[in-house]
Amino acid sequence: MFTLRVDKVIRHNERYSTIFFEKELKSFPGQFVMLNIFDLEEIPLSLSSPQSVTVKAVGETTRYLIKIKPGERVGIKGPIGNPFSPAKGKVLMIAGGIGVAPLAYLYDFLQKCRVKVKVLYAVRSSDDLVLKERFEKARMRIITEDGSEGEKGNIFDLVYSEDVEEYDKIYICGPEVVMRGIHSYFKELGILNKTEFSLDRYMKCGIGICGSCVIGNGMRVCVEGPVFRGDEIVW
Ligand SMILES: Cc1cc2nc3c(=O)[nH]c(=O)nc-3n(C[C@H](O)[C@H](O)[C@H](O)COP(=O)(O)OP(=O)(O)OC[C@H]3O[C@@H](n4cnc5c(N)ncnc54)[C@H](O)[C@@H]3O)c2cc1C
Ligand code: FES
Repeated sequence: MFTLRVDKVIRHNERYSTIFFEKELKSFPGQFVMLNIFDLEEIPLSLSSPQSVTVKAVGETTRYLIKIKPGERVGIKGPIGNPFSPAKGKVLMIAGGIGVAPLAYLYDFLQKCRVKVKVLYAVRSSDDLVLKERFEKARMRIITEDGSEGEKGNIFDLVYSEDVEEYDKIYICGPEVVMRGIHSYFKELGILNKTEFSLDRYMKCGIGICGSCVIGNGMRVCVEGPVFRGDEIVW
């Protein structure tokens, strides 16, 4: 583990912040860090760029983190985990809530490779659309459950209305219940081999020892994941 100084904090609103570290981490999109604050739990956070994490406040550690001040130091283990693999051709990204964080990093990476990406971004309400400015507006569909921005409905409404079979690669990150639903739909369509899911499991150690993040086929999300090809996943 090493420590990094917080360089800048963008407070998106009362529940979300993006925290920039003093330097870039050698990393690939889809990788995460185990972030540690003195006296609080160590938690996994995806990199939203080589130099940042984007945090949603849900419990003690994340509530502290969104209010962290420039100059404070955090402990970092990582970057850890299996990243997304690069794509060519037509690419679709499906982001549910804070699952947008690793996809924003991947999006920047694919833009540099001149890959055209369409983004489906689903959240509860407009306040949750924290990284929308990272994506090209003309190639993004937003849906909110309360209709406060974009279309009104949920992530499945977006996915079912898109011709997903026309894409060469599909990347997905969101709450587990959403990913299970999308996984089962893509299985029915027989397109799991061209999908990659970044899984979100409760993690304790982040280094493959404790077993808290194991999925159905014995694979550990922290080591063999967090990114898996759809046809490798057993829930
Ligand atoms: C690989 C990976 C990448 C992640 N990336 C991000 C990210 O980029 N940004 C971000 O804000 N969060 C991310 N998370 C989730 C984040 O790690 C949890 O929100 C955090 O650990 C909660 O810590 P806490 O102490 O604030 O809350 P806790 O007090 O630990 O938990 C508060 C509530 O959130 C639930 N919870 C805790 N961890 C998770 C989890 N992993 N999945 C679903 N529910 C959980 C608890 O059951 C509880 O109900 C990621 C998780 C994983 C596994
Ligand atoms: S978090 Fe301990 S094995 Fe994955």
